[in-house]
Amino acid sequence: MSHCSVIAIDGPSGSGKSTVAKSLAKELGILYIDTGAMFRALAYVANERSIPLDSDSEVESFLKSIKVDYQSEEGSLIKVDGIDLSERIREHHVSKLASIISQIAPVRTFLLDFQRELANSKVCVMEGRDIGTVVFPEAFCKFFVTASIEVRAKRRYDQLLDKGQEDVDLDQLKKDVKKRDDKDMGRDVAPLKKADDAELVDTSEMPLDTVISHLKGMVSNRASEIGINL
Ligand code: DC
Repeated sequence: MSHCSVIAIDGPSGSGKSTVAKSLAKELGILYIDTGAMFRALAYVANERSIPLDSDSEVESFLKSIKVDYQSEEGSLIKVDGIDLSERIREHHVSKLASIISQIAPVRTFLLDFQRELANSKVCVMEGRDIGTVVFPEAFCKFFVTASIEVRAKRRYDQLLDKGQEDVDLDQLKKDVKKRDDKDMGRDVAPLKKADDAELVDTSEMPLDTVISHLKGMVSNRASEIGINL
């Protein structure tokens, strides 16, 4: 199989994959692409505009009407129709909306094209749920990053407290994490699953800097094996 120069990092929410993906990209000096931010941004805007998600035709015309910009300027992660949503997409309620919208086939097709176009033969780290299985099955390096539900809920809890949110309930978060996993793994289109050739990375017990240096070593070896310049 011929390979493309993408490093695919997939896994469930709270597994540490974003931190791992971001740090790995930074250490290697390559582009980092956060595909979850794209689903979040579309979910946020569709909700604001009261798009009926049960109508494929309404969703399709919504998708045709919008302009998405990813990292179009310094300090902006994602914009829709010129409006910067980088902060707003991190609000807790947007996670639920994103999980719902990510099950809609036209949304996945739209973002699949967008993601392929964006990576367009660049060396990059792309993070998501289906990068190694659907978006770039020919990625030269694939990792499936995971952690136990308890660890993931606690990480989310700490994050929300850090952000100043006060009414956070750990047990509720555990249930939310589990529900989101079931949805992400159970959906018909592009479900969350480990690609057969992805390396499983469990971050429950491992400090993130250990994980990152382990991955960095594997990426460097693999890149020199197949002649990709990092
Ligand atoms: O990684 P995240 O929590 O920001 O992702 C938000 C939602 O988008 C999550 O429910 C899963 C979904 N998603 C997806 O279905 N496919 C991707 N490639 C990335 C995210």
